[in-house]
Amino acid sequence: MEFKSVGIKGLGYYVPEKVMTNFDFEKIIDTSDEWIRTRTGIEERRFAAVDQATSDLCVEAAKKALDRANMTVEDLDLILVATCTPDYLVQATACLVQHKLGGKNIPCFDLNAACSGFIYGLTVANGMIKGGVYKNILVIGAETLSRIIDMQDRNTCILFGDGAAAAVVGEVEEGYGILSTYLGAEGEDDDILRTPAGGTKKPNDAQTIENRENFVKMKGQDVFKFAVHALPNATKNALNTADVSANDLTMIFPHQANVRIIESAAKRIHVPIEKFYMNLQKFGNTSSASVGLALGEALEKGLVKKGDLIALTGFGAGLTYGSIIMRWTY
Ligand code: UT7
Repeated sequence: MEFKSVGIKGLGYYVPEKVMTNFDFEKIIDTSDEWIRTRTGIEERRFAAVDQATSDLCVEAAKKALDRANMTVEDLDLILVATCTPDYLVQATACLVQHKLGGKNIPCFDLNAACSGFIYGLTVANGMIKGGVYKNILVIGAETLSRIIDMQDRNTCILFGDGAAAAVVGEVEEGYGILSTYLGAEGEDDDILRTPAGGTKKPNDAQTIENRENFVKMKGQDVFKFAVHALPNATKNALNTADVSANDLTMIFPHQANVRIIESAAKRIHVPIEKFYMNLQKFGNTSSASVGLALGEALEKGLVKKGDLIALTGFGAGLTYGSIIMRWTY
């Protein structure tokens, strides 16, 4: 059975205006610009305004993606938001996005694969369109991580930022679009990277708030060890399925967590570091938004052109990982 070619018809991204530099953190916690830059590569990140929630970031990115695809909300058959920082625990952020975009009766749901969220979302959309369920799907990766980081915990708070990336996914010219997808997860119930309280396992109470368990906690070195294998392995698996080699790639868009993780992945798959697009210096780790934000900025700079072979690759809490190989569509 021949499947249609599915790809991104329009991509848009949005970051809030407020810039939070490493020097701003020096005033709040015991850290330094030098430590953050040399250990992570991050120089600044964006924080949402007090009246902005994840759905608001989504809407800004979505409008740009729809414009680029020459479509309106009426053309959409599904809205899918990948996020681990939804507006509310109950009521999908995707539903709020539908309303704010002026859509009616469009199915909507959220997906939580943490930093692999954009890649998971695109994979779901690809399958649904190839399977004939829907024609045009809006996939958004968006986070307001500034609301779940502990500003007293220097191990985590310096890493994360807010932002959104949106892609209109649909049928594209034959031979273009998504050539392969690869997803995985290691779901052990450990505390490597999670928000301990506020879910059904441990609802928030005075004690969890006092212990600051309502904020994200991370064992940085454990995530680091996982990432340096997960990132290259996921990319290799997707390359194999697409039957292309790493040398054929014009550019790789990795999850923007840490420049040292990306450098290690580059060595493991024998691709020059210059081919790994990075904007973590400016935006930090924006989790579900990160890979889309990187691709969006590269497109804006004219660094990706129609026909280029690119890889999206990520890892995150769960622990999840995934990669997509695509031939760029516009
Ligand atoms: O989307 C997935 C999310 N997470 C990640 O990708 C994170 C992966 N992990 C990492 O990126 C790194 O592990 C970190 C950047 C989080 C930490 O770097 P590291 O080289 O693993 O440092 P470390 O945790 O081993 O800490 C080294 C030292 C410690 O001090 P002592 O015990 O040696 O005295 C920390 O207390 O650095 C200290 N430290 C800091 N110092 C200044 C930790 N955070 C800071 C800080 N500023 N912000």
